[in-house]
Amino acid sequence: MDYLQINGGKELSGEVTISGAKNAALPIIAATILSDNEVILTNLPNVVDIRTLLNLLTMLGGSVEHNATVAKVNNGSITSTKAVYEIVSQMRASILVLGPLLARFGECEVSLPGGCAIGQRPIDLHLKALESMGATIEIKSGYVHAMAPNGLKGARIIFDKITVGGTENIVMAAALAEGTTTIINAAKEPEVVQLCEMIAEAGVKITGIGSNELTIEGTNKKPLQFKPLEIIPDRIEAGTYLCAGAITHSTITLNKVNPQHIRASTEKLESMGCTFDIDKDSMTIYPPKELKPVNLITIEYPGFPTDMQAQFMAVAVMSKGESLIEERLFENRFMHVSELNRLGADIWLKSNTAAVKGVEKLYGADIMATDLRASSALVLAALVAEGTTNVHRIYHLDRGYDDLEGKLSALGADIVRKKV
Ligand code: EPZ
Repeated sequence: MDYLQINGGKELSGEVTISGAKNAALPIIAATILSDNEVILTNLPNVVDIRTLLNLLTMLGGSVEHNATVAKVNNGSITSTKAVYEIVSQMRASILVLGPLLARFGECEVSLPGGCAIGQRPIDLHLKALESMGATIEIKSGYVHAMAPNGLKGARIIFDKITVGGTENIVMAAALAEGTTTIINAAKEPEVVQLCEMIAEAGVKITGIGSNELTIEGTNKKPLQFKPLEIIPDRIEAGTYLCAGAITHSTITLNKVNPQHIRASTEKLESMGCTFDIDKDSMTIYPPKELKPVNLITIEYPGFPTDMQAQFMAVAVMSKGESLIEERLFENRFMHVSELNRLGADIWLKSNTAAVKGVEKLYGADIMATDLRASSALVLAALVAEGTTNVHRIYHLDRGYDDLEGKLSALGADIVRKKV
């Protein structure tokens, strides 16, 4: 199994190009099921999760040509509507095929994704919304069997909780439904916005894009024809490199980034003493010699993202003073705490809040990655830990960070991938 060996203490400098957003690309790949024609996607991140979902489309009978950042997908040839356990268990986001498969084919079976390292992550809101649209849902032998033989019907859906994947699934389902669907309390993350724009560009009338109320006028089962689409920059990858700059006190320039999408992170870094030069699609971070502590609460966009919580905790560990970090979205997203403490951090956890006392130094050790963002937090801490840190189980990182060690090496980090 691969691991990353990092010798800490190197100053970083230079430029890094941000890849396409994994969490935008995944629903967009699922949305290609709404079409029976070729769809061309560019600026895909070269990460395992993207390959997994493209593989699922191939298993359903779709045709996929994929090389690194470009995919040509044609789902005109789909012959199966069963998303099997072997794929869904590798990646929860496979549940995103539920809405489009049901809307286009009137029936599908999708393996029920289990809980994961960061929480239970139920899909009850996806299922309830599809039922409001006329679907019959049965859960049997670990599969969600959804049926709507006469097609889905537009409905008024009020989400009890803001859900990114739930909103995406219902937008896709509504695009081919009969009549108008209104989603109240919709998610408005940039990834949801790009999905809505893609579907609207294909001729579906959608109002309220980027707000928490979406109205979608369905085509009544008529498949969509999508224009070629470039995936938006990954705001979480960008935020992670800003944290790499902050924790190592290094000036780093990010290219191909959307500064608007990462304002919650840049504002928190500003409160810690960092300054920025910001252009339309690039930005440079200038960290101070001594970082101030930070208080943050994770919340839906445009609030502070849960996907940046772990990385900010690593930075807070190296600040002067005490930080408070509250996780409100996922009940178990603190698996990095004990590993950071193994490096010498002083973090005390109570319920969903972590109190982080800044320390002078961290010391290299063997540590274990537990989920995607927790893994990147461990890498950030290792960049400043004295001596050698080996980060194990990096298959989590490979799911969502495009060439992390290559990009950090190019910035001057001493980081290599090794095999046990
Ligand atoms: C998306 O997950 C992202 N994944 C996650 O990124 C991200 O952390 C999350 O949104 C929140 O921003 C993708 O986009 C592929 P949710 P998703 O439905 O859609 C509860 C990463 O590291 N909920 O918005 O699964 C849920 O348990 C990942 O890249 C229900 O209760 O998240 C959570 O507490 C990890 N019932 C909250 O809502 C439901 O039916 C928000 O989850 C659905 C969700």
